[in-house]
Amino acid sequence: MKQLDPLGSMRRTHYCGMLRSEHVGEEITLCGWVHRRRDHGGVVFIDLRDRSGVAQVVFKPDAAPVAHDKASRLRTEFVMVASGRLERRENEAINPKLPTGEVELIASDLRILNIATTPPFPIEDDAAVDEALRLRHRVHDLRRPLMQARLKTRHHLLQSVRAACSDMGLYEIETPILNRSTPEGARDFLVPSRIYPGSFYALPQSPQIIKQLLMIAGFDGYFQIARCFRDEDQRADRQLEFAQIDIEMSFVGVDDVLQMLEELTVRAFRDVCGLELPRPFPRYGFADVQARYGTDRPDTRFGLELVDLSDILVNSDFNVFAQAVRKGGIVKALPVPNAEAVSRSELDRLIERVQDWGAKGMAWIRVAADGTWQSPIAKYLDDAEQQQIAERAGLRPGHLLLFIADRPALANDVLSRLRLELGNRLGRGDGRDWDALFVVDFPLFEETDNGQLTYMHMPFVAPLEDDVDLLAGDPLKVRATHYDLIINGVEMGSGSLRNYRSDVQLKILELLGYDEAEARGRFGFLLDALDAGAPPHGGFAFGFDRLCLLLAGGDSLRDVIAFPKTQRAQDLFMQSPAGVDAGQLRELGLRVQ
Ligand code: AMO
Ligand code: AMP
Repeated sequence: MKQLDPLGSMRRTHYCGMLRSEHVGEEITLCGWVHRRRDHGGVVFIDLRDRSGVAQVVFKPDAAPVAHDKASRLRTEFVMVASGRLERRENEAINPKLPTGEVELIASDLRILNIATTPPFPIEDDAAVDEALRLRHRVHDLRRPLMQARLKTRHHLLQSVRAACSDMGLYEIETPILNRSTPEGARDFLVPSRIYPGSFYALPQSPQIIKQLLMIAGFDGYFQIARCFRDEDQRADRQLEFAQIDIEMSFVGVDDVLQMLEELTVRAFRDVCGLELPRPFPRYGFADVQARYGTDRPDTRFGLELVDLSDILVNSDFNVFAQAVRKGGIVKALPVPNAEAVSRSELDRLIERVQDWGAKGMAWIRVAADGTWQSPIAKYLDDAEQQQIAERAGLRPGHLLLFIADRPALANDVLSRLRLELGNRLGRGDGRDWDALFVVDFPLFEETDNGQLTYMHMPFVAPLEDDVDLLAGDPLKVRATHYDLIINGVEMGSGSLRNYRSDVQLKILELLGYDEAEARGRFGFLLDALDAGAPPHGGFAFGFDRLCLLLAGGDSLRDVIAFPKTQRAQDLFMQSPAGVDAGQLRELGLRVQ
């Protein structure tokens, strides 16, 4: 008989992990990898693994001598297909830890489909393997059940998002990867053109302008699982190459977009994890969260709100504080109730931590059980100052108050980190697993260190309609239509309404330092398109990998991306980036220095 394919007449009937007692008595064929092999006095036991789990396959010498003989040649990670009858295991052989632990396949037939080299580490979830080794041998790493489960969750999330966006009337439209360089904040990846030596395409940092063009073109609603490329320093929550759930809609206001995002998020949590997020997601103003939590991505599952003491301390005898405020800085503090557990040596360690984060120091006050203060700075504070501080911070016996005096951005950053660190350490969460919220009312502009106006998010964000007139006189006061979605203190995504009038867009570009000729040179295609009849429009982009990490679990984005880059921007499996040959460079008109 002719054999047309490697499986011959054998075809999988079930996935390994799905077998249960109800299948006992059925003729079953399984395909997969040898997870473990044991030879018990002539009987060969194989734990066979596929993406669904593991099942036990038994080869008995007397019942199936040919199959048994082949089975004795099997080794870990060999690929095989086996057929036989499913039986219930002897009582003492039942493995309650395994979903398939009540049954075993008594094999009558076996094909070894491929042999395999010895794996570099055990294909087990709890094998403690160095991450560089995991990434170097990613194919083996991905075989681990945990990684299989994470990528399965990623798949479900993709399907949930696609279905939800399509149900809400958005079209999935693909946008180009080879683009023109536009300023979006991060550094561009450039691709040299062979046909136009010296000219470059840029990989998209996001399809921002193109999705706006799609709205002007009349598609009304767009979404895409878009690949984005940003040449920025790598962190646990950043990759060079990542995915966004990118969305844009016409004829909407901020409220419409936020409701849509809420719907999409709730649906994703429900579809993928069976979790019901409480609605509506609360909305916080930027200034409010900045004041209370020191960050625009607060985790509100912790209380521990900051207090600003600048006005009380501007004339203090403690020079560090008074000077900081007079130089435009702030003195802010974190009150921690019931902080007896924080020892003196832990305080010293915290002071070292905050210095690593850029603070110059950290003054503190500890309120003893009898109400007296222990503090390195109490002696510099007069009675009135002490009383006002105690009042504003709500100090009680057992409280610890931690002070940072610095530039506002730095003081807030350090205190927001301290807040999370101490909140976690002292178990001050309110018990909620999930904390989804929107931050709104960001300013449109901020000032750089040298006093120049710069955009807070990107140059295409529209001001609030009421604030358009302020552009001419007081741009720093202009509020933006920008919004962020924060889940558990992580920025899940951001968006805004866009400038759909070219005069407003031009004015903003002008404030950002482009004269009209420059603006037309760089953004002429956008400005012309706005003039072609642009509807009011706005949208959003989720960091898809971040959402996956939240739902699938893991330590970094690398755990939910099949082939990620390392912190040092390398793919250790395929060994990229890598050199190219001289001919390729010549063809592109490039020379490497
Ligand atoms: P933004 O630049 O805020 O907005 O990006 C949106 C979301 O994408 C995620 N993200 C990243 N994820 C992994 N690695 C990275 N390097 C990375 N950078 C960003 C974050 C972020 O919130 N065009 C606008 C969106 C819009 O206004 O519609 C944009 O790209 O979760
Ligand atoms: P010093 O007089 O420098 O010993 O500082 C007295 C206290 O103030 C110490 O507890 C320092 O950690 C603290 N300190 C110094 N600089 C700052 C600052 N910028 N913000 C908050 N505390 C500070």
